[in-house]
Amino acid sequence: MPDRSKPATLAAHGGRIEAAASGGIVPPLEMATTYERRRQDYAPPAGYIYSRFHHPNWEQAEKLLAELEGGAEALLFASGIASVSAIVETLRPGERVVAQESIFWGTRLRFQEFAERWGIVLTVVPGSGLIEAIAAAPTKLVWFETPANPTWEIIDIAAVSAAAHKAGALSVVDSTAASPVLTRPIEHGADIVMHSATKYLNGHSDVIAGALVTARNDENWQRIRTLRGTTGNILGPFEAWLLLRGMRTLYLRVERASESAQRVAEAMTRHPKVSHVMYPGLPDHPGHDIARRQMQGGFGGMLSIRIKGDGAAALRVATATRLFRPATSLGGVESLIEHRATLEGAHGNVPPDLLRLSIGIEDADDLIADLDQALAQI
Ligand SMILES: Cc1ncc(COP(=O)(O)O)c(C=O)c1O
Repeated sequence: MPDRSKPATLAAHGGRIEAAASGGIVPPLEMATTYERRRQDYAPPAGYIYSRFHHPNWEQAEKLLAELEGGAEALLFASGIASVSAIVETLRPGERVVAQESIFWGTRLRFQEFAERWGIVLTVVPGSGLIEAIAAAPTKLVWFETPANPTWEIIDIAAVSAAAHKAGALSVVDSTAASPVLTRPIEHGADIVMHSATKYLNGHSDVIAGALVTARNDENWQRIRTLRGTTGNILGPFEAWLLLRGMRTLYLRVERASESAQRVAEAMTRHPKVSHVMYPGLPDHPGHDIARRQMQGGFGGMLSIRIKGDGAAALRVATATRLFRPATSLGGVESLIEHRATLEGAHGNVPPDLLRLSIGIEDADDLIADLDQALAQI
């Protein structure tokens, strides 16, 4: 693999992977949990000791992800939310976290529970209030998401990270919806990038996984790495293997999904039964100008529509689609339609007429026709 290969090339090859001992061109799946130490000095021959701490299938996916994000190192975790926990668990009682309001509700819940039980000071503010909130009191961690579900709010990573650094805080970005194809937050000043690797990185709706990528291999990062092993917050080998396999088509999938999402969003703005379309690629989206600066090659595969009707009508549309699958999650090859208010229940404040669309890799004309026929039923 030439050193200057572009990210898409690197991803297509699964990273800088050496051929397996067999000569096979995909990495073998390593199922061993422990490793022989038959050498006289008792040293493990390849550095592997016990697979709660190190695993060859993790390392392949981690190295590739670190390169794609332009980071120093990456770590895989049991799920996206487990990677949130890995950061949260580095905090000490009394430390303050500033978080954006419209982050993934599961993440917000994790912060709230942790704040209550561990004495963390949690300040949750709208994305537009992050910088002011950071400056208002000593802060340890700033957490935000861009584009953020379900309005696809765009946060200026450089501006918020600069404010975090001025306050001596760590800037962490959940970049699940963008993926490294569209945004590389470390280049904009973020310290740590988080992914629900369940989504675009894997891309096939068959693996639950999480990942963190760091700008620097510093003391805090080493603590996160140690905690992963000591708390056992780890990914299974087969999941890591599948994740690497999925990442090989990341660029194709995300580029296609973004192109189609732009077309679907534009079509929905003209639809008589749709009152509002939320997509950062539309000029009327409040984050459009920042997104144009911060994202490259598209605005992502996620959008939301508000229909002219109530919650029952929205549910009717979601279940009347033939191609879009009415299911939660995002970032897979198949398009999904989701009634977020049902999913988030009392934890969220999503309007009942909102439907969230995760655009897959199907033909965009087919997707638009499917939405047309479903919307015709209300
Ligand atoms: C933006 C975002 N962050 C984090 C998560 C949590 O990830 P996981 O479901 O892999 O634990 C999700 C899952 O829906 C998500 O959409």
